[in-house]
Amino acid sequence: MYDVARIRADFPILGREVNGKPLVYLDNGASAQKPRVVIDAMTRAFEHEYANVHRGLHYLSNLATDKYEAVRGIVARFLGAPDPDQIVFTSGATEAINLVSYAWAAPRFQPGDEIVLSVLEHHANIVPWHFLRERQGAVLKWVEPEADGSLDPQKLIAAIGPRTRLVAVTQMSNVTGARVDVAAICGQARQLGVPVLVDGSQGAVHGPVSVADIGCDFFAITGHKLYGPSGSGAIWIAPERMAEMRPFLGGGDMIREVTRDCVSYNDPPMKFEAGTPGIVQQIGMGVALEYLMALGMDNVAAHEADLRDYANHRFSGLNWLNIQGTSPDKGAIYSLTLDGAAHAHDISTVLDKKGIAVRAGTHCAMPLMTHLGLTATCRASFGLYNTREEVDKLIEALELCHELFA
Ligand code: ALA
Repeated sequence: MYDVARIRADFPILGREVNGKPLVYLDNGASAQKPRVVIDAMTRAFEHEYANVHRGLHYLSNLATDKYEAVRGIVARFLGAPDPDQIVFTSGATEAINLVSYAWAAPRFQPGDEIVLSVLEHHANIVPWHFLRERQGAVLKWVEPEADGSLDPQKLIAAIGPRTRLVAVTQMSNVTGARVDVAAICGQARQLGVPVLVDGSQGAVHGPVSVADIGCDFFAITGHKLYGPSGSGAIWIAPERMAEMRPFLGGGDMIREVTRDCVSYNDPPMKFEAGTPGIVQQIGMGVALEYLMALGMDNVAAHEADLRDYANHRFSGLNWLNIQGTSPDKGAIYSLTLDGAAHAHDISTVLDKKGIAVRAGTHCAMPLMTHLGLTATCRASFGLYNTREEVDKLIEALELCHELFA
């Protein structure tokens, strides 16, 4: 049974007050809180198990290397990938997608080659492709969402043309919670011979992932949204694509031999991991992923679906509240505006006074905000430890905003 009270007790920060009120943390889309097991594992690693990895023959270096390398297997299990060597560690999804842009796409793109993107994308899955546009004449082709915020896979497939070299698409909008049927996209794109990069930054947080079932070529995750530390992350890369990649960052660990005249590279995945990595961060991410797998991502998804349905039910009575994205299978992420004079920043300030943490602004997704005709929203993004009572508290605070700013 999914015991949310017991789960909340695993997260020390949820016991604190903010502005004299019990914390209601609804900014999980920006970054999730960390369970005690992650905090303890990182403390233990720093206190008792720390040394650089892959470099020493001494006890602590071997211990740290074993702990760090074990995370590759944990990430592979979490993503349903057959082989830990298909996992490249990164500092997060942003670095992961930049890696694909520099290491795989840049050497392959000719002027006029296209990348198909959805308007739902986060800047992390836009700006690396703008680099290719600015530097190499790549063309960005945009696919717009439907009125309910969802993305029609057929529209995305229809945008693929003879010059399309890559589809880059999110699994879930960080602004509206819209879920994207990435498996449908990948299946058809594969038949057209076009690789697909999936930004799993949000999607992997809210339900089970199997890259084998999705059939993508690249799948990026970020540790800090997965209840792990910031500075951790990874990307799963299909072996055919990994074989096509040139190194991105140069430095220690990614090399086999360096002379005055030449350099040869380590085998993948280390070929793509230069320099001392986020050792303890990745160890922390591994513990977070084990924690999620122990809860069961199906159970997490069911709990969050209950919160979404309850929130939808409660929101439906509020005719002054506007919610962006209403597709029935969306994640429990709500971008809100109020009729009247309330700006998103005003709303979030009032909510903060009530101990409720939300994000206000453009959510690193300006093309989507422009599409929606909005300059800012207030975003409440739920996670595995949130409760129906917290939905009620959010609504009570929004009602106060409505009274104050009507
Ligand atoms: N990508 C993060 C968000 O959605 C920062 O807020």
